[in-house]
Amino acid sequence: MGCFPLELLIADHAGFCGGVRRAFQMAEEAGQEHGKWYTLGPLVHNEEVIRYFENQGIKPIHQLSEINGGGIIIRSHGVTPEIIREVEEKGYLVKDATCPLVKRVHNLAQMLRGEEYEVIIFGDRNHPEVQGILGWCDYRATVIASVDEARELKQVNKLGIISQTTKSEEEYQSVITELFPKAQELRAFHTICPASRKRQEAAGVLCNEVDMMLVIGDESSSNTRTLARKCIAGVKTLLIRTAKDLKKEDFEGISRLGITAGASTPDWIIKEVVEKMTQFDDVAPQEQNQETTNEESFANVEAQETTGNEESFAKMEAQMADLATPNRGDVIKGTVIQVLDDEVMVDVGGKSEGVIPLRELSVKDVNSAKELVSVGEEIEVLVLKWDDDGTILLSKKKVDSKKVMDQLENDFKEGKVIEGTVAGTVKGGLLVDVGVIAFLPASHVEDGYVKNLDEYVNKTYSFKVIEFNRTKKRGSQIVVSRKELVEAEKSKQRDAFWASIEEGQIVKGKVKRIVDYGAFIDLGGFEGLLHVSEIDHVRIDHPSSVLTEGEEIEVFILALDREKQRVSLSRKKLLKSPWEIVLSKYNEGDIIEGTVVRIAPFGAFVEIEPGVDGLVHISQLADRRVEKPQDVVSVDEKIKVKILSIDPEEKRIGLSLKEANENSEEQEVQEYLDNQEQE
Ligand code: F3S
Repeated sequence: MGCFPLELLIADHAGFCGGVRRAFQMAEEAGQEHGKWYTLGPLVHNEEVIRYFENQGIKPIHQLSEINGGGIIIRSHGVTPEIIREVEEKGYLVKDATCPLVKRVHNLAQMLRGEEYEVIIFGDRNHPEVQGILGWCDYRATVIASVDEARELKQVNKLGIISQTTKSEEEYQSVITELFPKAQELRAFHTICPASRKRQEAAGVLCNEVDMMLVIGDESSSNTRTLARKCIAGVKTLLIRTAKDLKKEDFEGISRLGITAGASTPDWIIKEVVEKMTQFDDVAPQEQNQETTNEESFANVEAQETTGNEESFAKMEAQMADLATPNRGDVIKGTVIQVLDDEVMVDVGGKSEGVIPLRELSVKDVNSAKELVSVGEEIEVLVLKWDDDGTILLSKKKVDSKKVMDQLENDFKEGKVIEGTVAGTVKGGLLVDVGVIAFLPASHVEDGYVKNLDEYVNKTYSFKVIEFNRTKKRGSQIVVSRKELVEAEKSKQRDAFWASIEEGQIVKGKVKRIVDYGAFIDLGGFEGLLHVSEIDHVRIDHPSSVLTEGEEIEVFILALDREKQRVSLSRKKLLKSPWEIVLSKYNEGDIIEGTVVRIAPFGAFVEIEPGVDGLVHISQLADRRVEKPQDVVSVDEKIKVKILSIDPEEKRIGLSLKEANENSEEQEVQEYLDNQEQE
């Protein structure tokens, strides 16, 4: 007797595969449409499903000649190109539910034949899928069903190998290995469907955890048969078509039961089986074909056990909900199982594995997917489509973009400040990465004109969304601006500046702009004018001869006009005046060098420091009578002079060339006498 309630464990991958589910959905759509619809051959290898559609008026036919009008549903197994041509010629409506994976095998068969390979199809000769594939290589292919048959093949030049999608992967590998030495050139394509493989692998894993496996499916399904074979190899296995095939005595001595189902088994049959298993305890005797001993035993099941079954059933239901193959447009959660440079493999649960190509990973431009995700990470993805090679094409970028767009829309409505990094320049502005790419018009980069936009690239700033239009086809859907924020920041700085500034203060500033009449100095959010006359004590030709844009300098707050918000600055005030230099550097009696800068009838003016001239009166030019100063000195001549007097009040300096010369003569005589003495 079974240990009821049994612990039921459902395989991770079981029931309808993506291709069959797609065909099922297309047939359901057809059932809603006007007109008569037929399936060319049974839609799937499952009597229940066929009956389900017959009840909706969708009948299977074996040949096109059986009908005269209506619509044809091509099942997931696919058909030959001749059938497609015939359907088109007869003008029938068509719903082509050929599984994308099978379509890929068609394309490969056609390509291999076109390139004159000897085509080998590993599969069951009479299987409709293989029949279809044969048509795509002009029936010029050899079908082999086993390694033994592969061994029989003769040596050829070029061999191309493909497989029926539902065959066992190990067997296909053995076939390829066997055929490998038989050709000079061999091309083998992996065409086994991952759905079949996954069902087989999941069933294999479950076999190790249970006392018995229940395989649900139709014996006519190759997929189900392969699955059952796999289970039989591991543990006691029972193949049933529907819940009606269940007999309680089959589970004698079993406490853990594993359940799996072929790719053509619909969810409702799995559910019925699970329900029936969980109801075994409560089943009324008349409903059972059991012996009395069994009935008694069922009646004795305790309430606690029933609760256990309910929980188990709820778990099963949750698992079955999980089994649904995601449809195009679904947003689903998945776990990253492999990360390559150019793509990411994602386990999206239930039955499927998906691929995110690098271009669909992120709005960011990266060289490798490894920069963005890692194995084990849970991510949300959008199902884009079933790709030609049968994998599900996913996009993380679109999910992320949608989330970011939703957030941005909210930020736009609420006028929030967002952060973004300038990604590059374009005509008329900059591109900014704010999670998606937004446009920043050049006129909104600052609160004034910006000469060089390149300076902003790769830098992060705060922005406000000023335009958001999800449906916009041309141009950017999001436009951002810094202008308002920059203005606000400057106004804040201005207020702080005026609150703290006083005349007479010495502050630091940056030379922002140089103009002919001076320079504008940025004092931290506010600009003051340093007039040319306030740059230095000495006359300068142009402000740029002293200052450089960007340079930091100290300035003196000369005057403030709070009303007009003007600040006058002085640099000169912080420098020593030439007279201060003269007073600190020279004394009366010093002999110094100077330059004759001007000659007057009464003497010559000699510059001894920039901006400070002294006068050598005509009487002090030589120790003889001088008619005209220019008889002794000329402009620009460098001469040695003696300081006779310094009058800081009158700012006058009296110099003497004559005494400087006498001094030097005396010095020469002294030096001569010193030398004589030494001799
Ligand atoms: Fe199903 Fe297509 Fe694979 S029909 S089993 S997904 S080849």
